[in-house]
Amino acid sequence: MHKRSDTADRMEHIRPFYVMGLLARARELEAEGRDVIHMEVGEPDFTTPETIVRAGQQALADGYTRYLPATGLPELQKAIAGFYKDRYGVWIDHRRVIVTPGASGALQLALSVLIDPGDQVLMTDPGYPCNRNFVHLVGGEPVGIPVGPDSHYQLDAATVSANWSERTKAVLVASPSNPTGTLLGKADLSALHHEVCKLGGVLIVDEIYQGLVYGGDAGTALSVADDLFIINSFSKYFGMTGWRLGWMVVPDRFIAPVDRLAQNIFLSASSPAQYAALEAFSSETLDTTERRRQEFKVRRDYLLSALRSLGLKIAVEPEGAFYLYADCSALTEDSYSFAVDLLESEGVAITPGKDFGFNLPQQHLRFAYTTSVPRLKEGVDRLARFIRA
Ligand SMILES: Cc1ncc(COP(=O)(O)O)c(C=O)c1O
Repeated sequence: MHKRSDTADRMEHIRPFYVMGLLARARELEAEGRDVIHMEVGEPDFTTPETIVRAGQQALADGYTRYLPATGLPELQKAIAGFYKDRYGVWIDHRRVIVTPGASGALQLALSVLIDPGDQVLMTDPGYPCNRNFVHLVGGEPVGIPVGPDSHYQLDAATVSANWSERTKAVLVASPSNPTGTLLGKADLSALHHEVCKLGGVLIVDEIYQGLVYGGDAGTALSVADDLFIINSFSKYFGMTGWRLGWMVVPDRFIAPVDRLAQNIFLSASSPAQYAALEAFSSETLDTTERRRQEFKVRRDYLLSALRSLGLKIAVEPEGAFYLYADCSALTEDSYSFAVDLLESEGVAITPGKDFGFNLPQQHLRFAYTTSVPRLKEGVDRLARFIRA
């Protein structure tokens, strides 16, 4: 028997990031001398805080370039556990902290250790696109549940219960979320956790945008329950996307299996990055991240009202992350062509809804405020001109 192709069947499920095509086109335009405003990029425009950079340089100079334990540098595991205690008043055993290559590595470990072929994982649609693909990689079935403004684009206990099947094994949520920037409150998280446990599943909460919140602090799901998986990262709040460093917190009984798996898949997360991240929780670094958070808030406030005044509908005020997920149905029936045309004619790059799932993607666009207020203003002026044309 000949296979049609030598690419594994699972690759059929792996969809590209459509925004990457737009980004490539934006780079071409820039190479031709055009000025492009980037509102598609899902990473802070700020570079890594100086304190962390210096610690990383020192680690390299001191020769800390070798493998570390698969679950992470113990001092870093302790520093992360200390952060939960200092900031959120939550005590956790540091051995439950597993240091990973980004939240991406954490998600892959969590899903690999939990999901058997055929198991279903419930998640929001729209949601972070890689989640579906991670589930496919382990032979599971991602089940995207359409969510909208009425539920703040989040899953609640009743929705989870209504979508539960014999094959459901886990529920994956994010707070603050990508692409909508909405949060799950403490009471909602508690009810969700209770429901998932009652149904015999496992709750995974992605808190990668923790700290990037503009009302009250969103806190952590760890203050609600212990028996869940928490995903986090140094990428966003600590401005370390390229260092590839994240972590997760797992229930006690998962420490040994996750360790075994991490030894095999990654050996360990980047050593210099781990030494650098020891500086992430110093007061000097946290002063910097706090200033940046305030700057993100200014940007959000500006862009939210500017987009609304252009006829884009943002029904729920996004309280975190650095994204606005806008309903553009008053302006176009096809958000993808809108994004392509906007880039070509005005040099403004945004992300079309179809990168985030199958729930009304054609009527949504994601705007990232990962650029300065003057650049955002310029982007909004160009967008206004595009809409008028
Ligand atoms: C919700 C969410 N989870 C996980 C990730 C992965 O981040 P990283 O691997 O850089 O930590 C991202 C990146 O954008 C994200 O938005």
